[in-house]
Amino acid sequence: MDKQLNLKNIVLIGRTFEEYHKMFELDNLPANEHILDVASGVSSFCAEASAKGYNVTASDRVYTSSPLEIESKCRQDLDAVMNQLPDLVDLYAWDFFKDVQALKTNREKAYKLFIEDFKNYGTKRYMPAEYPTTDFKEEQFSVSLVSHFLFLYEDHINYDFHRKVIRELLRITSKEIRIFPIVNLKGKKSVYVDRLMHDEDFNHLQISIKKVGYEFVKNGNEMMLIDKSGCN
Ligand SMILES: C[S@@+](CC[C@H](N)C(=O)[O-])C[C@H]1O[C@@H](n2cnc3c(N)ncnc32)[C@H](O)[C@@H]1O
Repeated sequence: MDKQLNLKNIVLIGRTFEEYHKMFELDNLPANEHILDVASGVSSFCAEASAKGYNVTASDRVYTSSPLEIESKCRQDLDAVMNQLPDLVDLYAWDFFKDVQALKTNREKAYKLFIEDFKNYGTKRYMPAEYPTTDFKEEQFSVSLVSHFLFLYEDHINYDFHRKVIRELLRITSKEIRIFPIVNLKGKKSVYVDRLMHDEDFNHLQISIKKVGYEFVKNGNEMMLIDKSGCN
């Protein structure tokens, strides 16, 4: 049987700006776009990107909790993942992170930067949102980034949920949606990728898969790009 992380739920673990920059090829994104980070959790992307002049709104269901509660849940999830990793090292590519300790240090850096920024800016940057339904306005954002939420957790969230989240993102995003990775927790392409690309509801859109310069889960080095331009 294929090995994978054994997770009861979607975990509260976050990545850094550097990882987002590689996963989503942000070099080709003008800094003045209004970016929505979808299910951003304890990622430090919003904090770091804002400091660099990007216009980012982070959104996650966990933002109704206090910084202390979030930190405590994140620590538990991080420990649960780190305890399993020594038995799963073959599932991952150890290039971006040299080893398990380097990974842990990076994840701790991300959530600590997040907590500080969350305390300082609250709902100016961090909007509570329970996908698939949000209170955001039509086309409030130009680009939505979805990191480690859809596809990866196909055992936890079904196809109908994926569809609904993408429909909601199409409503609140004017230009494009980028989703990374497109593999599940076993490092296999999610069964929902082809299903989505052939879904009649989305056949007016340009949906493509692009190889990017970031890989942690082995084979997880592609992002999905959903382009809304030309569909109005
Ligand atoms: C693995 S974390 C990814 C965090 C961030 N995107 C990153 O890559 O660093 C998954 C996040 O999804 C959030 N989440 C799960 N289900 C959600 C839902 N229905 N609506 C909003 N957020 C959700 C969790 O709270 C968690 O922060």
